[in-house]
Amino acid sequence: HRHLLGVAGLSAFEIEGLLAASEEAVALSRQVEKKRSTLRGRTQINLFFENSTRTQSSFEIAGKRLGADVMNMSVGASSMKKGETVLDTAATLNAMRPDIIVVRHHAAGAVALLAQKVDCSVVNAGDGAHEHPTQALLDALTIKRAKGRIEGLTVAICGDVLHSRVARSNIILLNALGARVRVVAPSTLLPEGVERLGVTAHRTMREGLAGADVVMMLRLQLERMNGSFVPSVKEYFAHFGLDAAKLAYAAPDAVVMHPGPMNRGVEIASEVADGPRSLIRDQVEMGVAVRMAVLEALSRHLPND
Ligand code: CP
Repeated sequence: HRHLLGVAGLSAFEIEGLLAASEEAVALSRQVEKKRSTLRGRTQINLFFENSTRTQSSFEIAGKRLGADVMNMSVGASSMKKGETVLDTAATLNAMRPDIIVVRHHAAGAVALLAQKVDCSVVNAGDGAHEHPTQALLDALTIKRAKGRIEGLTVAICGDVLHSRVARSNIILLNALGARVRVVAPSTLLPEGVERLGVTAHRTMREGLAGADVVMMLRLQLERMNGSFVPSVKEYFAHFGLDAAKLAYAAPDAVVMHPGPMNRGVEIASEVADGPRSLIRDQVEMGVAVRMAVLEALSRHLPND
């Protein structure tokens, strides 16, 4: 593949290959000397049209650990504020001959469209409610390291599934690796026909978490709801917020994940987020490793002259 636009279309073999390469990147990143030269001489642009803490910084660190020159394009300060379109912005950056562009955009499909207009590799860092492929890969790596496997595990993805590209990418990837995936949310936060993605849908935490090996919480994306979210945040937390009492429905050795950014007291309680079963910090560490593996894999398709 020249681009990574989604996990849809990746085979289980390709996913396993990326996870194995990520393990090597974890080991490298834990050394004092953390650099490789795979991307030396290459130019990587991080083009983020939406806010990010984890994804943008970890793509920057990953590129630098591989020796690339990394440029962070701050869209807020760009000529898009003066009316330049996304595609003109892409064409402008393309003329500077980057090798890889990492893109986040609020519209589903925008990253794939941009990929058609540039000569370099493109990585999707999240497009609307469509896909966030490196998040799903880092989540899979985190689960595999904690549980030793993914096949046969029951993973409950809880909360705002409707607006979540993280949920979509995770559902696709976890199914490809043989996990049993549940989604748990009020009906208003589940997409129509979500079962067609290969999940079972549950409307209560008691039912959805029963015996689960992994509990993955999602942020309530109020900014994508145009004020249409009816229940109060307090009511939402009472029914769907993960606290110690609800976590007790899951398997005794269940682990807790959240892609971040977390809203404490909205979808997750601090007692769980900071508790002994939380893998939230591990997810962040795995994020750098997975992004190194993805950049290295794409670099094999970059021209050599
Ligand atoms: N998980 C995630 O994508 O976080 P950011 O929005 O901070 O990049």
